[in-house]
Amino acid sequence: MTDEPQPQGLPLSPKQMASVRSLRNDFSRLLMEHRFVIDELLTKTSILREESLHTHSYNPIEHITSRVKSPRSLLEKVNRRGLPLNIDVIRQSITDIAGIRITCSFIADTYHVLETLTSQDDVRVVEIKDYIAHPKPNGYKSLHAILEVPIFLSQGRTPVICEVQIRTIAMDFWASLEHKINYKFAGEVPDRLLEELTQTAEVASQLDRRMEQLHAEVHDGEPDDQSDEDFDDESLRILWELSARES
Ligand code: GTP
Ligand code: MG
Repeated sequence: MTDEPQPQGLPLSPKQMASVRSLRNDFSRLLMEHRFVIDELLTKTSILREESLHTHSYNPIEHITSRVKSPRSLLEKVNRRGLPLNIDVIRQSITDIAGIRITCSFIADTYHVLETLTSQDDVRVVEIKDYIAHPKPNGYKSLHAILEVPIFLSQGRTPVICEVQIRTIAMDFWASLEHKINYKFAGEVPDRLLEELTQTAEVASQLDRRMEQLHAEVHDGEPDDQSDEDFDDESLRILWELSARES
């Protein structure tokens, strides 16, 4: 016998219980793999950020958030989509089990970050939607990429899908407000607010354009300075001796 809690209100036979437990294990493994793919992508973005800081003294990424769907939200989506309880089908069909959101200062940075991530040879691009060039009718803007990235488990290389959203601070500000308003009105947002939201999306786009112009004016022709590593006098002396030995 096991001490595991029984699902409340479900009069299941031992055989049915065993089957639910086995499914639960499959799902929890699936969620674990999606936590790992997030770790992989966070490492990739953090390398991108640090390398850019080192080479250009410039940080293209303002902040990053990530989440794995909760078991309940995943199961609700499986149910909504009428998918079979087959882990491989679910893994391929639900592409936002793992999600990361990268917020950049400027529009050019969003494309640069997307290009850098998608050009890595272990990253497979499943789909890209450019809602910056082609905003949604409500004004929503972002770059969306569905990427497949390998994680390395005891049984070997396992490709896992992750949804990556890349946007500017202004786009992010707008999207979170729009999300809150939609949530508050359970999707039935009054027309007046909808119109206001679409207008503010345009204001946010103007802000992005003007900030980018300003940034370009300030940074044009500025030399890149290298970031300071902890090279103390002794390290520099050794470096000098090594270089002298070579010449
Ligand atoms: P799901 O909505 O996830 O089933 O996928 P989809 O096929 O509609 O994909 P899409 O790329 O349009 O949206 C995926 C995600 O982008 C959503 O889950 C949101 O996080 C975000 N998103 C898309 N449209 C909007 C929008 O109008 N407003 C806000 N705030 N977020 C949006
Ligand atoms: Mg989604």
